[in-house]
Amino acid sequence: MNKKDLDKIWVIDFGGQYAHLIARRIRELNVYSMIIDPDEISVERIREDTPKAIILSGGPSSIYEENAPKIPRWLLDINIPILGICYGHQLLAYMFGGKVSRGLGEFGRTRVKILDKKDLFKGLGDVLEVWMSHNDYVEKPPPDSEILAVSEDTGYIAAFRIKERKIFGVQFHPEVIHTERGLDILNNFLELSSCKRNWRLEDYLNNVINNIKNTVSDNEKVLCAVSGGVDSTVTASILKKAVGDRLVSVFVNHGLLREGEVEEVSTNLRRIGIEPMYIDASERFLNALRGVSDPEEKRIIIGRIFGEIFKEIISKDPSIKWLAQGTTYPDVIESGRSRRASKIKSHHNVAGLPEDLGLRLIEPLKDLYKDEVRRLGELLGIPREILVRHPFPGPGLAVRIIGEVNEERLSIIRKASRIVEEIIRRHGLYEKVWQAFPVLLKDKWVGIKGDKRSEGYIIVIRIVDSQDGMTADWSRVPYEILDEISRRIISEIREVTMVTYAITSKPPSTIEAE
Ligand code: XMP
Repeated sequence: MNKKDLDKIWVIDFGGQYAHLIARRIRELNVYSMIIDPDEISVERIREDTPKAIILSGGPSSIYEENAPKIPRWLLDINIPILGICYGHQLLAYMFGGKVSRGLGEFGRTRVKILDKKDLFKGLGDVLEVWMSHNDYVEKPPPDSEILAVSEDTGYIAAFRIKERKIFGVQFHPEVIHTERGLDILNNFLELSSCKRNWRLEDYLNNVINNIKNTVSDNEKVLCAVSGGVDSTVTASILKKAVGDRLVSVFVNHGLLREGEVEEVSTNLRRIGIEPMYIDASERFLNALRGVSDPEEKRIIIGRIFGEIFKEIISKDPSIKWLAQGTTYPDVIESGRSRRASKIKSHHNVAGLPEDLGLRLIEPLKDLYKDEVRRLGELLGIPREILVRHPFPGPGLAVRIIGEVNEERLSIIRKASRIVEEIIRRHGLYEKVWQAFPVLLKDKWVGIKGDKRSEGYIIVIRIVDSQDGMTADWSRVPYEILDEISRRIISEIREVTMVTYAITSKPPSTIEAE
């Protein structure tokens, strides 16, 4: 099944952290979902995608704010089922003539009474515990609407429907796991549209392989940088299946890898039949980074050298015409290809390369979420240890050392990374958290070691839970484990006198320090 033949659901992203979660839930229900920026909505786009239903996400705005995101009015009249969630619910109420006001606010688990048990709430009982997160509320429903559910405590409208239409608003978040039967509510909504459940990763995989076979000619080669991480490994495996020996995989050691990583990655890749060209460019990268402490500058230098190395490879083999990259769907959205996203960090994908390489791009994962990439990896027979590996940034340890990167500081962060990983694995946390790593600060902290005053480095431990890396929360790791990490770092790394734990979520922080 080609992408154009899939039945699609649009998820209009009003800037809340939940739009991607909604999209992922819809895919769990075997329907292909797409994130759409409100500014992208146009008649042409509707004709192109022909979405079978539209979901309006939550978002941080208030409906009456000057720049509050909106949808065009005509979208309400084209007879496609619409479900507004939170801000989306308020926007629908407002656009249909209801009144939205600032209310008491409802946050967290909330009980709602279901007044109408058909369609959206079919088969769901009388009362549901749902997840709320809002201050504004629909004070007066639109004239031609019916109220489907109310909050037990506040009496606020928890769900309404425009009469005789398949247009619904829910104040709560059916996409979060804390909402009881949330997936059933989304499923009921999909049932009300004519969409076919034709999103299957098996089909996607066959399709993507066939598409590559059809686009890359027999005399052309494809370059693919591999790092041992999930995305590049899955990408290289797909390419291997599609073009066989015409895949030129390259593993560049930029000198910013963790202890034992070169051997581990090489072994892992060999197990799945990929034997990358190994280029040890550590000195070249480290020389270029000497004396540089600005984070953006570091990233740009690393990106530039990667580009140079690729150019050198291409110049030696003119049959390389393509570059395969493991860009995933959140990368596409977060790297600002979508207009609403602003650039937060350069060079998110190390293989994200200068246009002047003159290669055409193949991005087989660009429609997929991380969990889907992992499942695709399983379908490709990639061993589990590779698929559960934590993300590791392309610029490597350079973004985990604040300030200048040099041998001394690299050696400290390598030792600390090994300690953190060992402890997290031993306590069975590795597969539970999204990432766990240390960051080396440039400031010093006075300590006492062996009864003497000593000034040493500060290490911040960052352990986060996340679904897709777009948002993250700091992990509530037991104190005993944090204590073990701290003690081992202090006793095994002479230069460190303080270990701290980072307790800020993303947003406002990012996951990596730089
Ligand atoms: P941030 O720090 O932006 O990171 O919250 C989000 C996720 O992306 C990873 N990350 C990178 N991955 N190249 C990559 O391939 C990069 O330059 C890069 N920077 C951050 C990060 O580890 C987290 O999982």
